Amino acid sequence: MEIDFPHGRKLRLVVGDITRIRVDAIVNAANSGLRGGGGVDGAVHRAGGPAIMRELDGIRKSAGGCPTGSTVATGAGSLPAQFVFHAVGPVYRDGRHGEPEQLANCYRTCLDLAGRHGVRTISFPAISTGVYGYPMEEAAGIALETIALRLRSADCPVQDVLLILFDQGTYSVHARIAAARITSSRSAGSP
Ligand code: APR
Repeated sequence: MEIDFPHGRKLRLVVGDITRIRVDAIVNAANSGLRGGGGVDGAVHRAGGPAIMRELDGIRKSAGGCPTGSTVATGAGSLPAQFVFHAVGPVYRDGRHGEPEQLANCYRTCLDLAGRHGVRTISFPAISTGVYGYPMEEAAGIALETIALRLRSADCPVQDVLLILFDQGTYSVHARIAAARITSSRSAGSP
C-alpha cells in the first residue's frame, strides 16, 4: 500500500525484514539500556555487525542510555543504510501510563533526527508491538497518524517513509487502519 502526501512524499506499507531494505535510516526497536535484544534489535545487530554496539557503548557511557519515547542515532555498520535510529518504545501496561504519548514520541524523535542527519528515506518497524506487548491495532493507529501528520507538514525533511511489517497479519491491520484514517490513500497492489 502506498499513500501520497504533499510535495511527492510517500508512506509505504511493506511486508518484510527491516534489515534487508535499503534506506537512509533504519529505525531499531531498542531498549533504554541500548544493550541489544531479540526481535528487530537482534536482527539489526546481527546484520549490522559489532560496530553498532561499539557506538552504543560510547553513548551509554556518556548519556547512560536512552529514555523511553526517545531515540539515539548510530552508523549502520553492514546494514543497507547510513544510520540506525535506536528508538525506545514503551512497555505496554494498560495504555493509561503514558504509553500512547511515548509511542508517538518514538516516531516524532526519529523524524526529527532524520531532519538533522539529512535523511530522505526512513524505515520503521511496528515499535513496541513485539516483546513490549503493545496491542497491534492501537499501536498501528498511533504510528500511522503520527507519521502522516509529519508528512503533511510544510517543513518535513523526509521524502519516503516505509513501515516494514514482519508478516501478512501485521500488514493487514496497518493497511486497514491506514485506509480508514489516513485520507488520500490508494492501494498500489502491495504486497
Ligand atoms: N523486521 C521487521 N519487523 C520485525 C523484525 C524484522 N527483522 N523482527 C521482528 N519484527 C516485528 C515484530 O513482529 C513486532 O511486530 O517488529 C515488531 C516489534 O517487535 P520487537 O522487536 O519485539 O520490539 P518491541 O516490542 O519494541 O520490544 C523491544 O525487545 O528485542 C528487545 O531489545 C529489545 O528490549 C527491547 C524490546
